[in-house]
Amino acid sequence: MKLRTLSSLEGSKKISNQTVLIRVDYNVPLEEKKGSLTVADDTRLVNSKKTIDWLLENGNKVILLSHLGRPKEAPEAKYSLRPVFNYLKEQNWWPKLSFIDNISQDAKDEISLLRGGEVVILENMRFYIGEKQNTRGHAQWLASFGDVFVNEAFSSCHRAHASTVGIAQILPSYAGFALEEEVNALEKIIKTPARPLVAVVGGAKISDKVEATANLARMADVVLVGGGVANNFIKAQKVEVHKSYLESAVEADDKKKDINYVKTAKKIIEENCWEVYLKDGYIPLQKIVYPVDVWAASDLKSDQAQLINLDRDMHDTDKDKNLMYLDIGPKTIRLFQEIILSAGTVFWNGPMGVFENPSFSMGTGEIARAVAKTSAVTVIGGGDTIDALKNAQLEKQIDFVSTGGSASLEFLAGKVLSGLAVLAP
Ligand code: 3PG
Repeated sequence: MKLRTLSSLEGSKKISNQTVLIRVDYNVPLEEKKGSLTVADDTRLVNSKKTIDWLLENGNKVILLSHLGRPKEAPEAKYSLRPVFNYLKEQNWWPKLSFIDNISQDAKDEISLLRGGEVVILENMRFYIGEKQNTRGHAQWLASFGDVFVNEAFSSCHRAHASTVGIAQILPSYAGFALEEEVNALEKIIKTPARPLVAVVGGAKISDKVEATANLARMADVVLVGGGVANNFIKAQKVEVHKSYLESAVEADDKKKDINYVKTAKKIIEENCWEVYLKDGYIPLQKIVYPVDVWAASDLKSDQAQLINLDRDMHDTDKDKNLMYLDIGPKTIRLFQEIILSAGTVFWNGPMGVFENPSFSMGTGEIARAVAKTSAVTVIGGGDTIDALKNAQLEKQIDFVSTGGSASLEFLAGKVLSGLAVLAP
């Protein structure tokens, strides 16, 4: 895919002595340490460094724009980017780094007084109502803070928001170094994947992932589904899921009120069958593989995991009615491992269970080990997946680590990401 890139700017076209707005994705996991929140994984921060350094070396002022979490279009303390700012201050990558917690005229005046070589982080873009709706007025106001726009947030390129798309339509705009590299690496997988191509999808952002699974199934030979996403596929087969997490459409996004993800999962299963010839004739073989057993408990923090073999004869008895499926079971692990080890390419996005709790981390750990061990070309994406690989100290054995969770899922599934489309030459 052709993009207008920073790397293509040479000589007199180089951006210098300008105010550059950079959309980064500092939506990073946070953890509490010594009573305050700090960054638990800085992959996305490191990812943006080369572009920022390059622009600073050329005498530019840099304004960083990002979101964190999913606030309801108004300031919420728990979604502040301040902990990220504090972490970056400690790293001292950019000695002249400041934080501005609003986008008022005063903030703009303050920024106009900065000098080349200085960096400012603005507070969470999703605190403003015009961000997700990408209203023209809001995008124009944001754009008026700078002269040039650079997108260094591949992982947010699937969102058509003011800070990813709106500004790019107003200012001269370019793809940053890391974004360009990421697009090139993922494009290679789409164009010439070594077969069989196995996609492993997990995690809890069900609304994003159920649909992405359908798209992935078109290009992948097999899709292994675990984590919270799998509950929809299990229920779609009329197997009991008790109290397991099934994201409701309303929770996911007000505009998707009518979507029933269990129905969507059922349709995906039905539409994705291979016909395999055995001696008695053709039998359908599912392309979507979901758990046959799970570890369950009635509390996410429980250390009492209960193994459940999933079959249609299960009932929601009084004893079991509060159970939630929190990890894939041993039979499922063996099945998934075998498929991963015989793959030509593996793309993995999303943990297999609630891996933060050691009682439910086995599935994710075992899949991480299989992905690290397979001789296939391996690509992983998504904050939690990267975290899981890092916990197991296996990330160095992965061929390409994508910063994008849902963005890489959609890109690999062949969708044109809005944030990239506006950077087309
Ligand atoms: C991500 O973590 O996948 C990106 O930051 C996008 O976040 P979102 O799904 O809340 O838009």
